[in-house]
Formats: sequence, structure tokens, C-alpha cells
Amino acid sequence: MTREVKTESCEQWVGVFSTVSDALGSLRACKEQGFPIVEFFSPYPVEEVEEILERRPTRLPWVCLFLGICGLVVALVFQFWVSNASWRMNIGGKPDNSIWAFLPVAFEMTVLAASIGSVIIFLMRCTLFPGVHVKMVDPRVVDDAFAVVVQDRPQAASSEKISDVLSKFNPDTLRPYEPDRSSQLPWGLVIGFVIVALLWTVAMNRVSAFYTKDSSQRPHEWATEMVYSHAYGPFEPNKNFPDGKTLRSPPPGSVARGHVPLTFPLTKEGAVAAGAILKNPFASDAPGVVERGTYIYQNFCVVCHGETGLGDGLMISKGVPAPPSLNDEEATKLLDGNLFFTITTGRGGMPPHAYQLSEDDRWKVVRYIRTLQGKKK
Ligand code: HEC
Repeated sequence: MTREVKTESCEQWVGVFSTVSDALGSLRACKEQGFPIVEFFSPYPVEEVEEILERRPTRLPWVCLFLGICGLVVALVFQFWVSNASWRMNIGGKPDNSIWAFLPVAFEMTVLAASIGSVIIFLMRCTLFPGVHVKMVDPRVVDDAFAVVVQDRPQAASSEKISDVLSKFNPDTLRPYEPDRSSQLPWGLVIGFVIVALLWTVAMNRVSAFYTKDSSQRPHEWATEMVYSHAYGPFEPNKNFPDGKTLRSPPPGSVARGHVPLTFPLTKEGAVAAGAILKNPFASDAPGVVERGTYIYQNFCVVCHGETGLGDGLMISKGVPAPPSLNDEEATKLLDGNLFFTITTGRGGMPPHAYQLSEDDRWKVVRYIRTLQGKKK
């Protein structure tokens, strides 16, 4: 055993022991004597130490909880503010305050703040940072020895008394110890980092301001593809085509899928020709056909053609030329395709209905005209 005892009192005492029983014995003895125990170093966890030192449980879980709640509140408030005040957007018809949609981000923020914050606070409490040099009490504590550190000054326990108690337990070394105050946060490094970050921000601001002369503009736009589309708008001029248009016309003679163009002349004869070719796709007894036809007739035709199809609708009394009866002998003989063609393209005082009514509805109203004709007979 090497034992150096200074005459003047020192700040702390370190006893290094090679067996755990000696180390624990010295710990218990120091506790009985009322010496303040600063630290116990061991190459592996020793359960009894917890009991002897009676350290209160770590407060880190509370710190973690607090940080998590902070992360949660910040995420919820921020998302609420963005979607209700700062940048309101209709996303799939959801209400602005869609608390359920905020949850994934809120959850992630909770976990992020709690975990990273806890680690940072843990390191701060241990004064462990990149660049910090921690002086070990004794290099053997990471290998095969146990060290007990006992406070001497300023509690004014006598140096002699402490070294006497510790030396009863066969310490390998027993020596006064001055804790290393240099194992603190490297403030130089931190301040240097902050200064460099500030200078960098100012420099980047100046650089972007140099490129944007107009101060009413945003100084620097980042990832502008998200803001401005590279694609041509449909009605924008386009120098890549000889006619200068972006929107291309379909080649001549193109037919929209499912729409047979009506190429008959817009005359009574044209209507007769259409009647010979176009067939009504709806049977008269198909469910809902006549009902739908009735609805269309009541809403689009009755003003001119009248309730019973006689051509005595309200508009006729206001000076619109009277249509022929849809009920007489002649009209009854007209084929479905003929009526469909006239309804679609219009003729004389009869307006075209291709744009107000779907093709199906035009065929269905023809079915209704047939029931009107049937009633008359
Ligand atoms: C603005 C008044 C007006 C409305 C609305 C109107 N028509 Fe007509 N309709 C006429 C007139 C006028 C004629 C006669 C056209 C001509 O030959 O000069 C006519 C002709 C017709 C013919 C041809 C009759 C024949 O003998 O050749 C049919 C069929 C017809 N209408 C059906 C309808 C249907 C179905 C609707 C509702 C979807 C409708 N019309 C809406 C005024 C109207």
C-alpha cells in the first residue's frame, strides 16, 4: 500500500481497493462516521452501493415527461396555427382544425423532444460534451479496482480521521485528491460555434440580398420548383409548335369515345334520315326510363310544348312561335331517331338541347313523348 498523507487538509480523499468487500466495508465505515461520500467507482455494477449511498432516484424520467409534453404541445399548437391562421388549405374537404390529422406529427415531435432532450440534459448534468476531457480518479477503476472518494474540506472532517478509517480496509492506494475542475463544458468551443453560426447567417443574408435588388421580393427562394411549374399552362403561348399554341387540337375527323357525331343536315329531311338510322337504346318498359323522361319533359319542354304536348305551353302566350303538336297523327309516325335528332340539334324555334341534356336523357324524353301520344289515343 502506498499511503501519502499531507499535513494540510485536502479537498477529497481517494481509496482504491482491489476487492469489492473491502471497498463496501470502507463505504459503510465512512457512512457510519458521517463522512460525506462523493463517489464510488466500480468496473461493474454493485447492488449494495445503492443502499449504502442512499442516493435519491434520478429525476431524468420527469425531465423526459416534461420534454415530451412540451414537444406535444408545440406540435399541436403549431399545426393548429398553420392550418387555421397562417396557411389555410382545403385538404380533401377536411375541416381546418383536424386534430386526428395532427396526431402523427404530434406523436413524432413528442418522441423527438423527449428522447433527444433527455440525452442532452443527461450529458449536461454529467458535464459530458464533445471535447471534454474527464480525468479519471484512478485508471484501474475501469479494469479491476474499486475507488471510494470522500469529501474532506470544506466539511472539515479531519484528514487524519478519514485516512485512518479508509486504511483499515487494505486500500491499494490512499491519497488526497483534488477534483479536476477542467471537466466542465468547453465554453470556448460553444461560444465559438455560436459566433460562427451568427456570422454565417449574416453572410448568407448579405449574399442573397446582393442577388435580389428588389427589397419587396423574398430575398432567397429555395427549391423553387415547388413554387413555379416548369410545365406550360394549356392556354400559354408555346414557341415549340408552328401555330404557337400549347393546347393541341385533335386531328381532323377525331370522334370522342362513345359519342357518334350527328352528321345529318339540320332540316326536317335530315331528321327523317336520322330516324332511319338512330335507334333508341332504352326499351319503353325499362325501369325508370319513363319516370326520368317525365322529369326532363316537365323541366325542359313543358314551357313550350305544354302539359299534354299540344304545343300550348306558357311561352307561346308570350310570343314564342308555337311548336307543332307532339300528339297528332303526323308526330306519332315520326321515328325515335327523328325526335332525338330534333331535340339534340334543335330546328327553327326549337333550341338545341345537346348541352343541357345528356344523350341518355334525350332518348328517355323521347320515350315519355311516346306515352303522351299513347294517352291521346
Ligand atoms: C323554346 C320553346 C321550346 C322548347 C323549350 C322545346 N321545344 Fe321542342 N319545339 C319547339 C318549336 C317551336 C318546334 C318546331 C320547330 C320547327 O320545326 O320549326 C319544336 C319541335 C320539336 C320537335 C319536333 C316535332 C316535329 O313534329 O318534328 C320535337 C320532337 C320537340 N320539339 C321536342 C322537344 C323536347 C323533348 C323538348 C324538351 C327537352 C323541347 N322540344 C323543348 C319549341 C320548343
